[in-house]
Amino acid sequence: MKTIRDLTVKNKTFLVRVDYNVPIKDKKVTSDLRIRASLPTIQYLLENGAKQIILISHLGRPEGKPNPEFSLKPVSDVLRKLLPKTTISFCPLPNDNGEIKIPENTKIALLENLRFNPGEENNDKTFIQNIVNDTHADAYVQDGFAVIHRAHASTDAIKNFLPIYAGLLLEKEVTNLDKITKNPEKPVLLIIGGAKVEDKQPLIDKFTKSANQIVVGGKIAADGYKSDNPKIYVAEDYDEDSTGKKLDIGPLSTAKVAGFITDAKTIIWNGLLGYAEDPAYATSSTIAAEVIGEHQDATTVICGGDTTGFVENLMENHPNLHYSLVSTGGGASLEYLLGNKLPGLEAITK
Ligand code: 3PG
Repeated sequence: MKTIRDLTVKNKTFLVRVDYNVPIKDKKVTSDLRIRASLPTIQYLLENGAKQIILISHLGRPEGKPNPEFSLKPVSDVLRKLLPKTTISFCPLPNDNGEIKIPENTKIALLENLRFNPGEENNDKTFIQNIVNDTHADAYVQDGFAVIHRAHASTDAIKNFLPIYAGLLLEKEVTNLDKITKNPEKPVLLIIGGAKVEDKQPLIDKFTKSANQIVVGGKIAADGYKSDNPKIYVAEDYDEDSTGKKLDIGPLSTAKVAGFITDAKTIIWNGLLGYAEDPAYATSSTIAAEVIGEHQDATTVICGGDTTGFVENLMENHPNLHYSLVSTGGGASLEYLLGNKLPGLEAITK
């Protein structure tokens, strides 16, 4: 896989696919994890003398029509705060046959939501070719790891028009996910939580051979998950509310999970162990996140939207916690771990 380190950057214009599909409330970004995760690539290009960086992304599912609710404009406000010394413009997408106008004197331009045009999700060659032409891009950087499982114009059709280089976020995600799937250091521990067993069972099945220990917690365990496999430990005690609803795994199970974490050299965690939105039932997930984050001798990968959000929040107040990867890709990391082909990855120049 070619990365931006293989590129001559000086005085070149780059079209950079990022995933800024971030939560927005009242026109404000409520989690900037994906925006901050895109900075190493942007900074690398800036420091190496790029002429211009054109950022492209989708946001939500506006179904091929402009819709202010799904505008990326609030993201440009966050970018300006994160990169105060750089000129950043926000550019709307043109109507049919119109040209995208990138101000000449801007270092970074963020284009409006690609999904405002049906061409993006239809993997339409003309749609992406027009963007390439209008932006005068010399090369394409794929750094939107979270969207590489989609065969869309900006992840797939683009390969017909420009050489594609992986950005530093994409490289980091893939390197760490490879580390835990291809020849991982043993013992390997998979921790599964969350609510939907049908989403998690394929991951359990996939890791049954390579993992030394699998833990099942969260609502899946509380709902009575059963397994005869001696590698699989299902939580055995619970914290309950006044109606007897099991909302967190209990102290005995939590202590067991902490022990498994301490013994492991490779740890993959997907899915919260309890109903952690309520702090009263976040104890086991907090302890797991802390013990994993303090385990400096292991490769540690956190994936799945709820789990990564939880860990990110915890890290804000506990800067001592460190993880090899807090994945930005919910669906993408799952598909990658399951060994499925990802169009956005296949498209990157070998
Ligand atoms: C995500 O948040 O998982 C990605 O941005 C992909 O979004 P999508 O599921 O709407 O394609």
